Amino acid sequence: MAGRRDRIQQHRGYRITIAIVVGILIGCVCAFVFPNGFFNSGSSLLVNERLSKSNSKVGLASCESSERVKMLKSEFSVVSVKNAELKKQVKELTEKVRLAEQETENARNQVLVLGSQIKAGPFGTVKSLRTNPTVVPDESVNPRLAKLLEKVAVSKEIIVVLANSNVKPMLEVQITSVKRVGIQNYLIVALDDSIVDFCKSKEVAYYKRDPDKAVDMVGKSGGNHAVSRLKFRVLREFLQLGYGVLLSDVDIVFLQNPFGHLYRDSDVESMSDGHDNNTAYGFNHVFDDPSMGWSRSAHTMRIWVFNSGFFYLRPTLPSIDLLDRVADTISKTGEWDQAVFNEQLFYPSHPGYTGLHASKRVMDMYEFMNSKVLFKTVRKNEELKKLKPVIVHLNYHPDKLERMQAVVEFYVDGKQDALDSFPDGSF
Ligand SMILES: *[C@@H]1O[C@H](CO)[C@@H](O)[C@H](O)[C@H]1NC(C)=O
Repeated sequence: MAGRRDRIQQHRGYRITIAIVVGILIGCVCAFVFPNGFFNSGSSLLVNERLSKSNSKVGLASCESSERVKMLKSEFSVVSVKNAELKKQVKELTEKVRLAEQETENARNQVLVLGSQIKAGPFGTVKSLRTNPTVVPDESVNPRLAKLLEKVAVSKEIIVVLANSNVKPMLEVQITSVKRVGIQNYLIVALDDSIVDFCKSKEVAYYKRDPDKAVDMVGKSGGNHAVSRLKFRVLREFLQLGYGVLLSDVDIVFLQNPFGHLYRDSDVESMSDGHDNNTAYGFNHVFDDPSMGWSRSAHTMRIWVFNSGFFYLRPTLPSIDLLDRVADTISKTGEWDQAVFNEQLFYPSHPGYTGLHASKRVMDMYEFMNSKVLFKTVRKNEELKKLKPVIVHLNYHPDKLERMQAVVEFYVDGKQDALDSFPDGSF
């Protein structure tokens, strides 16, 4: 019975659909035959007659239609302006919804970590946990810094940049870019007095560490790599005070506020040194060993390194563990900090070694763009050229200042050929 009734209803459904399709077809035919409608068709014939009769009247007709086109054009531009406004509003709302969802999701995950729910749910509902609980802020670690951060941070988050006088010109380009997009929570860790004065003159928040630490000698005179090592020591207190830290090198131009583009679901969220989907996000690389015959293909997991010049740390135990491990290893072996940073993040536990259990996320490579992606791919691709990154990091090139300025000219001033004169790489 039920089946039959369904079938009857189905038939009725088909008939209605067919009726609608026929109606639409008739409408289309009418629209084609009588473009001005049934009632105006006479006048349209009249125009045609006039057209065939005299050339001067052709002028009139085309004049009328150009008026019409003008009107349509202006209507169209009004509509597209409205459309753009709506799109912008939708984008803003979507962003707000995303952030709210993010908070809810992260809170839920933290409850799961802390709670004692140990029964696994049904298929498809089980999620491993990425969002570790944040540490309890401990102001006694550094009351002076705690006070400063209360003033400068926004929503318990802060951008931290280490700088000494060696990098002043780049720092200046960066500060200008930060102010241009209205970022408030930007703090410079001044490694010498000249940078303190510079920050004062630029009205940028700065923090000078207590001058008792031997490591600070490095900061005063050191080049890029020496300063880079120091950051793993400096950041610890920020996390202990309960702040999410976005560490930034100085060779970075800010084009949007990065805090609107973070996910905050992992201990470490970092930009990549990769240059396409595979290298940035991970891939299966087959190593060929013909001597093995049947099993000549050995599969390997590959990913290009996280860039230790721009990453976000949530104030969690794994993040602090990471900083300590990197600082400790560097002080013992003198290895490159970025290499150590990645080894700590990716090597699993194995005999004689206990791995770090930190959750990780790679930032979008077009939003958080390294200079290889920009100069080898993006500037040559019409579609990618239209995207506006959040930041550009000139990590792949030694002529950093010139390229930073070119990035500003291209993305801010709209100078379309600003990037053209630079070679892809540097020799
Ligand atoms: C890279 O991945 C994105 C997202 O999955 C995809 O839309 C895009 O087409 C991919 N690009 C290439 C070149 O495969």
